[in-house]
Amino acid sequence: MEAVVGGVTLYYRLHGEGEPVLFVHGFPLSGEMWMPAVERLGGGFRCIVPDLRGHGASGVTAEASMEQYAEDLAGVLDAAGERRPVVLVGMSMGGYIAFEFLRRFPERARALALVDTRAQPDTEEGARVRYETAGRALREGSRVVAEGMVGKLFAPGAPEELRARWLGIMSATPPEGAAAALRAMARRPDSRDTLRGFVGPVLVVVGEEDAITPVEEARGMAEVAPGGRVEVVPGAGHMAPVEQPDTVAAVLCRFLREIA
Ligand code: MLT
Repeated sequence: MEAVVGGVTLYYRLHGEGEPVLFVHGFPLSGEMWMPAVERLGGGFRCIVPDLRGHGASGVTAEASMEQYAEDLAGVLDAAGERRPVVLVGMSMGGYIAFEFLRRFPERARALALVDTRAQPDTEEGARVRYETAGRALREGSRVVAEGMVGKLFAPGAPEELRARWLGIMSATPPEGAAAALRAMARRPDSRDTLRGFVGPVLVVVGEEDAITPVEEARGMAEVAPGGRVEVVPGAGHMAPVEQPDTVAAVLCRFLREIA
């Protein structure tokens, strides 16, 4: 399916019928990362799974921002005819975008699942490295970014085929899209107050061996969120939804049923 938002064509997948659940992917990935878990949820939820601008099959712009990504998500929901408040599920950069969505469209989200992500902004040094990496992506292509990340994304025991498949997907991200996302992440604000102020149910999911957004960060978010709880996924790193889709689908399904 396609939605045109602000002149850019955004690709999205629909799966199932029922309560709407919006899945937001991480960097520099695509909605494809959610499909193993989404398929395991069965057909009882209306899963909306977009590719963010500059990623996957969606159109590319030279600039992006958390605000723009959040507007894009609202545009995708409109195109899908979805006016009900959604359960918002964000992985890593998708979590950063989910926080912005809550700030801009509080009435459009009724619950939140934060997967392998964090609420804090980048450190000054972290932001500087992002700008540097954005420059490299533009000069040398997305593969350098993908190669720099792939070693940290998965648990040490993850199958080689899984790493190779995701290295390919990340390397195929248009360099302008990757660079724009890196700069957007570097500029993102602190979202701890957003999380603190969110009144809906919150689930925090984290791979036990996540080297990018570790378990302590996840526990910190659950402490900040009123009524939040953490599910730790054994045998998974930062890419928990593709490394352990059975477990991730099971914890999501339990959460979705509890809040139905
Ligand atoms: C992601 O998976 O979206 C990225 O690792 C997020 C980040 O670099 O902060």
